[in-house]
Amino acid sequence: MDQRRRDLCGRRHVCLLTMKKERKEMRKKLSVITGGSSGLGLAAARCLASETSVLLCARGAAGLEKAKAGLLTFGADVHIFQMDAADAEAAKACAEYAAGLGDVVNVIHTAGVSPANTKAEDILRINTLGPINIVQAFYPVMEEGGVVICFGSTAGYVMDTNEKMAPLAPLAKQVYEKWKEPGFPALMMDFLADVMHLPENARAGSAYCLSKNFVKYFVYANTWRFAKKGCRILSVSPGSYLTPMHQALIDNAPESAERNLQGIPLQRWGHPYEMGKLVAFLCSKGAGYITGVDILADGGCTFAGTVNQIGE
Ligand SMILES: NC(=O)c1ccc[n+]([C@@H]2O[C@H](COP(=O)([O-])OP(=O)(O)OC[C@H]3O[C@@H](n4cnc5c(N)ncnc54)[C@H](OP(=O)(O)O)[C@@H]3O)[C@@H](O)[C@H]2O)c1
Repeated sequence: MDQRRRDLCGRRHVCLLTMKKERKEMRKKLSVITGGSSGLGLAAARCLASETSVLLCARGAAGLEKAKAGLLTFGADVHIFQMDAADAEAAKACAEYAAGLGDVVNVIHTAGVSPANTKAEDILRINTLGPINIVQAFYPVMEEGGVVICFGSTAGYVMDTNEKMAPLAPLAKQVYEKWKEPGFPALMMDFLADVMHLPENARAGSAYCLSKNFVKYFVYANTWRFAKKGCRILSVSPGSYLTPMHQALIDNAPESAERNLQGIPLQRWGHPYEMGKLVAFLCSKGAGYITGVDILADGGCTFAGTVNQIGE
């Protein structure tokens, strides 16, 4: 159909509003997945790639290239961006790059590290600054209707459910509220040392619990801000999914892994594709009323241990 209108002199002009709308409709929808080169992030990317273009982000170039090559064989539209999520400037550059590629509708922040191979300081730095930087950088570029999903962990519930840790939760929240301060990860380290009284060699596991508890806090604290923009924000807390991260935990301590497995009512590790499907659902219109919450996907292990179970 001819989109042009005639002006008073009879000249024909293209309707600017129609052109703008068409151009917007032509722009691709983009899902950004940090940690997209491995494990749960890659599983999410696989599921989202059938609906949108995907931008995979991680520190390692080789992992990104490999993940990209794998997705290309499915015919996906894949882009990669090498970045450290703990670096605020890198997160901003990533958001800018993403907005240039298309309409940013989904941001899945899976990038994170665990005590399997990372020391307490780095766990706190990456697992707290990562979500902060990604949320702050992508907030301005998110399309209306979009969603940010940050990855927590069942470890993030220890602070709330463990008898020894739960009394410290209000104090931890006071530290979380200082998230804007430049030395925030160091404040979290001080909390581990001075409030939890943990010796240096016992801090990595608790640093992980604290960092993932913070993820939930940060998501809750962003709920109104995102809703006012017409967007959603939530977190997902995986139990134990068989990814390279979880495999490293098993390899480091096979006996404690076996004990953990016994404590999972479903009696198995999670499959990464199950997480991919969950993320895809949480990004869909059907999940449009889910915001400001944590979705616990753990085979039943977190809360089955907190109440007496009904027998056969
Ligand atoms: N698997 C589980 O059972 C499980 C359980 C509870 C919670 N989680 C959480 O789920 C998330 C994904 O875990 P996963 O099992 O998929 O781990 P994974 O297989 O080790 O993958 C982690 C991904 O994050 C990237 N990454 C790590 N640090 C980064 C940083 N500073 N900046 C950018 N990218 C970074 C890694 O790539 P590079 O190293 O190249 O950067 C990799 O792509 C994590 O947040 C983890 O804590 C997992």
